[in-house]
Amino acid sequence: MKKSRKVKLLAVFATLSLALAACSSQDKTASTAKPQGEKPKTTSQDKVTIVYARGKDVTKGTEKMVEAFEKSHPNIDVKFREMPSDTGQQHDAYVTAFNAKSSEIDVIDMDVIWPAEFAQAGYVLPLDRFIQQDGIDLNEYNQGALGAAQFNGKQWALPKFVDAGLLYYRKDLVKPEEVPKTWDELLAKAKEKKGQGGTKFGYVLQAKQYEGLVTNTVEFVASYGGKFINDKNEVVVNSPETIKGLKELVKIAKSDVVPGNVTTFTEIESDQAFIEGQTVFLRNWPYEYASANDKEKSKIVGKVGVAPLPAGDKGSAAALGGWMAGINKYSKHPKEAWEFLKFMAGPEGQKIDAIYGGHAPTILKLYKDKEILDANPTFADPGFVNGLNAAVSRPVAPNYPEISDIIQINVSKAIAGQQTVEQAVQNMETEMKKVIKK
Ligand code: GLC
Repeated sequence: MKKSRKVKLLAVFATLSLALAACSSQDKTASTAKPQGEKPKTTSQDKVTIVYARGKDVTKGTEKMVEAFEKSHPNIDVKFREMPSDTGQQHDAYVTAFNAKSSEIDVIDMDVIWPAEFAQAGYVLPLDRFIQQDGIDLNEYNQGALGAAQFNGKQWALPKFVDAGLLYYRKDLVKPEEVPKTWDELLAKAKEKKGQGGTKFGYVLQAKQYEGLVTNTVEFVASYGGKFINDKNEVVVNSPETIKGLKELVKIAKSDVVPGNVTTFTEIESDQAFIEGQTVFLRNWPYEYASANDKEKSKIVGKVGVAPLPAGDKGSAAALGGWMAGINKYSKHPKEAWEFLKFMAGPEGQKIDAIYGGHAPTILKLYKDKEILDANPTFADPGFVNGLNAAVSRPVAPNYPEISDIIQINVSKAIAGQQTVEQAVQNMETEMKKVIKK
């Protein structure tokens, strides 16, 4: 592990432990609050408190979903634990807590890139027994998303929503026929429109050195037909296609249409810039539609257009993302944790999250639900649903964090002008080959 990452990780863990300590002292349930020595009577009034951890939710999806769960399950209280929104930092915090066999968190949201690693490390419980007992019909789920939560023949999590990169734009500034179809058109249109309607930027993407940069990179590279690692687990990053895609990304990230400090932008800063009315175009995940139409915080309600990401010479490509829910192996309340997980990843929870959180469901029949479609018109578009199915995965591996680091570091250096794109792909090739061989 690199030193800086270790330091970051320790800092995150320190914050986590403090928060956990604060929380567990409040976690007095009816039964544990009884005088010492007296055997607690179990009544229907007894409450179990479980802790649910996920990254910051800029929408109301989580809040509304937890509210509904608690209402229908009066014996279970859910305490929400906000984790770092940067998925890499969030990952590191869980790894530290679970390696220490901490039971403080019961249910976690897992990024699609984690299950292989978390299953192999034994951090989460296999859900097969619960699924069978409760007769959950797994055929109702998007099979790609479901498969992402399987490893060694077991189901380690249930998918809550699918993510795919999308292009957002200001409908009041860009006419439907002006929506850019290629990256070069995007650059030109962003230059032309920047400054209109009080905007400061033409385009915003996620160019900080973190996982989000990997997803942005996958989109550029795949739109020119490039790849990092193929289905046979061979490193194929050093190709003219990958080079073309990366050059386009570097050109846009260095241009004057993006914020001068775009290399500090994650999804949080990107969403903020868009809802504040600062940018004409934005690359983000499906939840942005709900966020940008939230009357309580957004200045651009009703002005939000959505389109596929611009194409390279091989077409448009969206990176596949998404989150699934799993149970900490050391949870002291696996039964209640499962009740919550089942609700959250089931039709009721996903519906609430789709309406208030703009998240794209993994249960297919929800794409026919009128209330969901009213809240998210894009979900009614067969192009959107097909786009989700065609989204490009990141390499699947138990040591994915190492592969991700190689991409993040080398792409960041290329954006910063510390190495050429050709050097970046050569370095990625050498470093990935070492990691894959292990
Ligand atoms: C979103 C995606 C997730 C991805 C992350 C990158 O949360 O769902 O898969 O890793 O963005 O920032």
